[in-house]
Amino acid sequence: MTAVRVVLVALVAATAAAAGASGRALPALLDRQGGPPPGVGGGRGGGGDGGNRRKCPNPATVPALDLAAYTGRWYQIGVTAEFAERQEDNKPCVTADYRLTGPTVEVINCKQDAPANRSSGAIIGCAKGVAFPSSKGDPGKLGVQFPGAPVPGPYWVIDLAGTKANGYRVAVVYSCTSTSRFFSQGLFLLSRTPRLRYGVFEAAYWYARVLARGIRFAKGNEFILTPQGKSCAYRGAKRAKVIFQ
Ligand SMILES: *[C@@H]1O[C@H](CO)[C@@H](O)[C@H](O)[C@H]1NC(C)=O
Repeated sequence: MTAVRVVLVALVAATAAAAGASGRALPALLDRQGGPPPGVGGGRGGGGDGGNRRKCPNPATVPALDLAAYTGRWYQIGVTAEFAERQEDNKPCVTADYRLTGPTVEVINCKQDAPANRSSGAIIGCAKGVAFPSSKGDPGKLGVQFPGAPVPGPYWVIDLAGTKANGYRVAVVYSCTSTSRFFSQGLFLLSRTPRLRYGVFEAAYWYARVLARGIRFAKGNEFILTPQGKSCAYRGAKRAKVIFQ
């Protein structure tokens, strides 16, 4: 009973903190359960959250992932702050379109750079990359490479809702890179629809599942909700102009 109450209290706090506040951090309450102790990493510019002496965790990935079923449009419901800032320029309406091209997957990540106005359609900025299975016998482990990046980054599907037959519904993707001098990690909550069925409660639920596995994001790399929905123009929309960056 107590555990249930604690979870409920956390969820309610999550809702209160995030109500109507897309683009804000999910509640510090959830984050405070973990994170590095004060003074250990968390600084910016030093190479990602957690500072320079952290090792990447090794969470289990999903036991099965059908790449063909995984293709198509995904909407980014939430992402960790460092990735939002560095790769997405903190822009709203982020999507990922996956298309199977033989053994690899074409990746087109887009964001809305400028909304539509009277004189011009919305401007959608996209980047094209490639994803590929990166570990035999580990279907949830992919790598993804974008032009300009020196090496592919890990793309690990650690949680998945829905079925192969319906093309899945929600995906939780984790990425972590560490060397002796560098540590960087990111989390992506993707949905087939611009909004999750149960809104911020559901976002908090998926994030809580990540925390439950011992993955922690430092201050400055909080999980934040990405604005999505009616005010967004997406790639493929009428009048929207797509620019590849
Ligand atoms: C309309 O949008 C275009 C493209 O984003 C921009 O260059 C222009 O300044 C905007 N005009 C107004 C009146 O906001």
